[in-house]
Amino acid sequence: MNDLNHLAIIMDGNGRWAKLKSLARSVGHKNGADTIDKVALTCIDLGIKNLTLYAFSTENWSRPKEEIDFLLNLAKDFIKKKEALFIKNGVKFETKGDISVFDDELKKAISHLKEVTKNGSNLTLALAVNYGSKDEIARAVKKLIKLNLEINEENITQHLDAPQMGNVDLIIRTGGEQRLSNFMLWQGAYAELVFTPTLWPDFNQKELFKIVENYKKIHRKFGGL
Ligand code: FPP
Repeated sequence: MNDLNHLAIIMDGNGRWAKLKSLARSVGHKNGADTIDKVALTCIDLGIKNLTLYAFSTENWSRPKEEIDFLLNLAKDFIKKKEALFIKNGVKFETKGDISVFDDELKKAISHLKEVTKNGSNLTLALAVNYGSKDEIARAVKKLIKLNLEINEENITQHLDAPQMGNVDLIIRTGGEQRLSNFMLWQGAYAELVFTPTLWPDFNQKELFKIVENYKKIHRKFGGL
């Protein structure tokens, strides 16, 4: 049986979920944000120690300004409201992505939540915001050059965002598309991939249990036999 140390999820399908119900896309995102809590608590039940969630990509800036503002406000709201829940459940908060571009209010909310949850030992939850894998790798290489360190696999790995979370074992993408969209390309080099048609706001504990059960039975070879 495989261990599942690090799960990463591309939370796709909020817009289509809303459209199917003749609701505004923003309602889909709002419901999508609510799914995060349930999934995080399920990960704790399953003994998964690291969870990375793709919330806003470096490519999402090409969406209409109204939707970008809504998503970033939702992220701000989410981060401001999670302190009690995360502390109660031993969740350590992290981010992946270039957060230097955000306004001071969001940056402060992020560093506050990181600080007050830093001793959480049940689950490390990283929200990937303004995240792109290629950008993350380029920033890691720039850090190495600045530190005058050799550019090799080990050093790049150690200078990615939240490197303590390690390689990704399983990537789930909801919403039916079958691509990685610039997500965890380095850490997920040997990740198992699961694509489900379920739209993110409908994703639930039962489906996650099933996916994890199937994952545990896979013979992972990592290039060996
Ligand atoms: C995809 O839906 C989802 C996103 C763009 C980001 C994920 C965002 C959330 C789960 C809600 C926000 C949560 C936080 C904490 C910011 P889509 O709009 O691409 O859906 P579609 O493909 O059906 O249009």
